Parts: sequence; structure tokens; C-alpha cells
Amino acid sequence: MPPRGRWRCALADRAFLATALHAPQCGRLEALPDALIVVGEGGVIEAVHRRESPLAAREAQRFAEMNSLVRLRPHQVLLPGMVDLHVHAPQWPQLGKALDLPLEEWLQQYTFPLEARCADVAYAQSIYEPLVDGLLANGTTTALYFGTIHLPATQRLADICLRRGQRALIGRVAMDDIDQCPSYYRDPSAAHAEAQTRAFIEYVRSLSGNGAGLVLPVVTPRFIPSCSDELLRRLGALAAEADCHVQTHCSESDWEHGYVQRRCGVSDTAALEGYGLLTRRTVLAHGNFVADDDVGRIVAAGAGIAHCPLSNVYFSDAVFPLRRMLDRGVHVGLGTDIAGGASPSILDNARHAVIASRLLESGVDPDLPRQARRRAGSRIDAPVAFWLATAGGGVALDLPVGVFAAGYQFDAIVIDGAVPNGNLRFDPRDTAEEMLQKILYGACRTNIREVWVSGRMVHAGVT
Ligand code: GUN
Ligand code: FE
Repeated sequence: MPPRGRWRCALADRAFLATALHAPQCGRLEALPDALIVVGEGGVIEAVHRRESPLAAREAQRFAEMNSLVRLRPHQVLLPGMVDLHVHAPQWPQLGKALDLPLEEWLQQYTFPLEARCADVAYAQSIYEPLVDGLLANGTTTALYFGTIHLPATQRLADICLRRGQRALIGRVAMDDIDQCPSYYRDPSAAHAEAQTRAFIEYVRSLSGNGAGLVLPVVTPRFIPSCSDELLRRLGALAAEADCHVQTHCSESDWEHGYVQRRCGVSDTAALEGYGLLTRRTVLAHGNFVADDDVGRIVAAGAGIAHCPLSNVYFSDAVFPLRRMLDRGVHVGLGTDIAGGASPSILDNARHAVIASRLLESGVDPDLPRQARRRAGSRIDAPVAFWLATAGGGVALDLPVGVFAAGYQFDAIVIDGAVPNGNLRFDPRDTAEEMLQKILYGACRTNIREVWVSGRMVHAGVT
């Protein structure tokens, strides 16, 4: 046996003495009151000592003596960091704008002209810096980003995430379809789009300071309507060759779902599978209209869905059947879909996921009789929403984040129930689940006092 105490001491950076809440499995909330979480090299959790373990006090003392103990205050709770599975970085200036248009008009009239402005790298930087800072301040420790078709601007986003310390998966957007993409915002050919995607992957993988893979490249066909068959085929092959994550939109709205069905003769999911774009590390945004056999394909591939409950209100034409997906074993996490959704907060989207599921369960048309209106068994509760926002996102990305356990990354946020300008009031009689409910339904940005990624503090709220 190695001398465990001293061996850990050599590697461990820091320890956190905190009341922590996490959801290691979907719907199972676990409270770790006054636990000691030991974080070692590379920001990886080495050990979680429960209060009752004799090691907890001894180790806490040792870290305190080394000046390496972070001790949370009594009104503070440690949560895993939030995982946002769907963000359009260039749409940050559009947040809240023109949400009453249908998706296809919103894209053509507002979104494509806005994204085209990222041809100017200085402009892109001027929006990407506040975006990354804003997401960190909202507790998002991992974000899966769409950039734009511009290689330099998307490279800049990778630089910023690395510098700010946000775990980020980033895609240079590929879109070449002549009918669906405007001439001012389109890849000139499938070969060009593939070459630029390849260049982006190489850039991210060789970024100085990114040896641990804090920032990862993602093959990103925007969605089938904006990509030619040739481009989809090339990107599927590239994802396999480069062993990359993949992201795209899938069966988001009636229009999108119907368009793909007409053009490809099959559903989005089946078409993506045929192109080699449905993999264990694929994240499909929305997936509102995936049929039963499509769910089978997604589960067989081990792909994930980014559930974007707020954006769905505006663009999807239906409520995502979340409970059914979870029961079938689909990997689901949450996405803000900035700017399809008008909130940059995953906590916000977690509460919207609960609301959407309740509306699906109760039904929405009061003119229908109760039984015709409702879809029984559709609701989720706060612990499920919390899991989606944290560990569920980690599972979808196939990354060790979202849980406080040895081997996971220490990505965490400190929720403070005593900030004077917050919406949160804990009561000493609250159970762990009640505290979680209060956080999930009530915590706002000011309640997020600290944000840690890979054991490094990347944001501190104002006192
Ligand atoms: N489908 C293709 N592009 C987009 C986009 O930017 N936002 C949303 N919500 N759906 C899309
Ligand atoms: Fe989107």
C-alpha cells in the first residue's frame, strides 16, 4: 500500500468543506452535508469524504494547515456547475428579439444577417467576451457552442473560453445549401466547409494551454436544410476520422421536420444516421418531433438531445416529450438555445423544463375534456430538472462533469442564500430536497457567488 495520506497530499491542490447537493442519477438527489471534497491535479476530484467519515475532519485540518481549504459559509450550498448543451455564440446580441416570428423567417430576417457580422473578428470578440463572462456568471461551467461559418471568429471564441477558463465544446458552423442559405452567409462549397472544419479542429487541438482539453472542437452542420447532401456526407466521415463531437439541430419544428422528410424521404434522425452524424458524442438540439423508431436510433447510437424548453415555446410548435425520452433511455440535458430562448441561464431553463412537462401532462386547451387534454405521466420534478442541468448534460457529452465523485472534474458553483439582492431564503428546517426546490425555482444570478471549473475559480459574484 502506498502511504495514501502523503501521496494524496503531493497531488491534491485544494479541498472544499461544503454542504453539497448533486444528482448522481436521474431523479436521485443526494445531499452531502459538511462533506470534504478533495481536488487534485488537473482539477479532478480525488475523494469525497462524508461528514461521518473519520477522514473528513483529519483531512480538513491538513488542508487548512496548508492554506488550501475552501470553507463554505452556513448559508452557502455547493452544486455541480451547469451544463448548457446548446448555445449560438453569435446570437448573444439578439437575446429576446423577434421571438414571435416562425423559425425559418427568424433565421433569414434576423439571425443570418447578425451571424454574418462575425466576418469581422474584432466585432466577434466584442460579443464573445461578454457572452462567456455572462454564461459563467449564470453558473454555466460547460457550454456547447455553435460559432459561425467564420474560422477566425470561431478560433477567437476558443481562445476566449480557454483564457476565461470555461469548459467549452465549439463548432465552426458548416452550411452550404444554395436554396436555404443566403449568398452573403454561406460556405462556397462542401469541400471548403470541410476544409475549414478540419482547420478548426486542428487549431483547437493544438491551442497552447489546452493540453487537458478544456476546449474541444465539434463538427457542426447547422441543420439538414442548410447543408447539401455532399457536405453532410463529408462531415460524417470527418467526425469519424477526427473522433470529434457532433452537434446539429434535429426535428425542431413542423417546418424543419417536414422539410427534411420531403427532401430526404426520411426523418432528420434517420438521415443523420445515414450520414454517420449520429454517434455517442452527437448532441441533437430540440428533437421535438422524433418518432418512436427515431428514438430507437438515438438510443442505439448513444446520442444525446439538448432539450431547450424556453426556445421551444417560440419555435417548436409543440412541447418536447421529455419524460418519454428519459424513460426510453435517451441521454438528455438542457440548452438555452441563445437566442432562440431569451434566457442565458440553465437554472432558468431547468424551471422551464418542469413547467413545460407540467403543461404537457395537464394539457393546455380548457375546451377539451380533462382526459382528452392531458398526457398522463409527462411531468418531471425539481431533482430530475437538476440532473438534466448537471449530470445529464455530462452524460450527453460523454464528459466526467456534473457529479461530485472521484474521477469527475471539479466544476462547481456556490449558491448563496444570504446575498441581500437575491431571491432565495433558506430556512434551517428545509430538507435537502426543499433547499434544491428553492434553488431550482428561485435562485438568480446574484445568488451565484462563485464559479469553479477544473478546480480553478473563474467567476466571483459581487458581495
Ligand atoms: N435551426 C437552424 N439554425 C437555427 C438557429 O440558429 N436557432 C434555432 N433555434 N434553430 C435553428
Ligand atoms: Fe439552435
